[in-house]
Amino acid sequence: MKTILVAGGAGYIGSHMVALLAERGIDTVVVDNLRTGHWQAAKGARKLYVGDLRDAAFLDQVFSENDIDGVINFAAYSLVGESVTNPLKYYGNNVAGSQSMLTAMKEHSVHKIVFSSTAATYGEPEKQPIEETDRTDPTNPYGASKLAIEGMLKWCDNAYGIHYVALRYFNAAGSNPDAGIGEDHDPESHLIPLVMKTALGQRSHIGIFGDDYPTADGTCIRDYIHVRDLVEAHLLALEHLEKTGESGIFNLGSGDGYSVKEIIDTARKITGRPIPAVVEPRRAGDPSVLIASNQKAAAVLGWKPTRGLEEIISDAWAWHSSHPNGYEG
Ligand code: UFG
Repeated sequence: MKTILVAGGAGYIGSHMVALLAERGIDTVVVDNLRTGHWQAAKGARKLYVGDLRDAAFLDQVFSENDIDGVINFAAYSLVGESVTNPLKYYGNNVAGSQSMLTAMKEHSVHKIVFSSTAATYGEPEKQPIEETDRTDPTNPYGASKLAIEGMLKWCDNAYGIHYVALRYFNAAGSNPDAGIGEDHDPESHLIPLVMKTALGQRSHIGIFGDDYPTADGTCIRDYIHVRDLVEAHLLALEHLEKTGESGIFNLGSGDGYSVKEIIDTARKITGRPIPAVVEPRRAGDPSVLIASNQKAAAVLGWKPTRGLEEIISDAWAWHSSHPNGYEG
């Protein structure tokens, strides 16, 4: 039986990947150290191996016990602010973890990997929408760690024939309510889950980080992409690697931008809750606008996101209102 190994499959995006693979009848095993993931989130997998990617003996056991056909690697720390104060944590886990994974793949002759990269590889963008050929100049260690891994993937392809697709995510959001999974970070720093927690009355208000940006309403614009559209792209990427063996880097975004105020207004409409908002100072390092060009993913992978902002927010609301304390209840 051919199996897909999902590293970080108990995390937010990884668990949605596992649910999609299960839906499609594809055998899956998950590797996760459960530092930020939740075992309940990985229940669609045949087996959850709890351990760290940097543990070579552990990875060797996983590859020996299963007939791994391809790897999808979501395992990473992803808090931008924390990466600035503790860069070694990010290089240590993200870069060293991927290095260890690639070493195991080389030793076990596994030649396909789909990797979670990020729009943070671009830093302050040169233009909008952002294309994959635009300059990459990360403004934080999180983005730098992901860009370093993209480089490692390129050279491992060159030397060992490990083909890869690196997917640069814009702002992942939403949930898969049918699978009973959603976003549960501690601490939570992302806009949409914080807006949902405000709607639930768990927070007194949502802070708007700056309203003096050069945008129509003065608040930052981001490209929000439904997590289910996002994971569908990973499956297409695996199929692309199977068919063509051609490595590549792709943006995953909707191509549409929404301001912080538009997100809050849409959430008020969908939840029917007041959601008090207070303008606060800018957060350091936030670019004013980040919008993806998704033309390359459309042309090469045949990927087209189909879920818009209202579906993102109503699916996020379905998760948060049914799991007000995340996986703990
Ligand atoms: N925001 C607020 N209030 C909050 C939280 C966020 O106004 O309480 C604003 C931010 O300033 C930003 C927007 O909402 O303008 C979105 O912020 P998020 O923290 O949800 O997401 P980011 O755009 O900062 O980060 C996302 C991913 C990162 C990735 C980055 C790439 O979550 O992993 O995009 O640019 F690194």
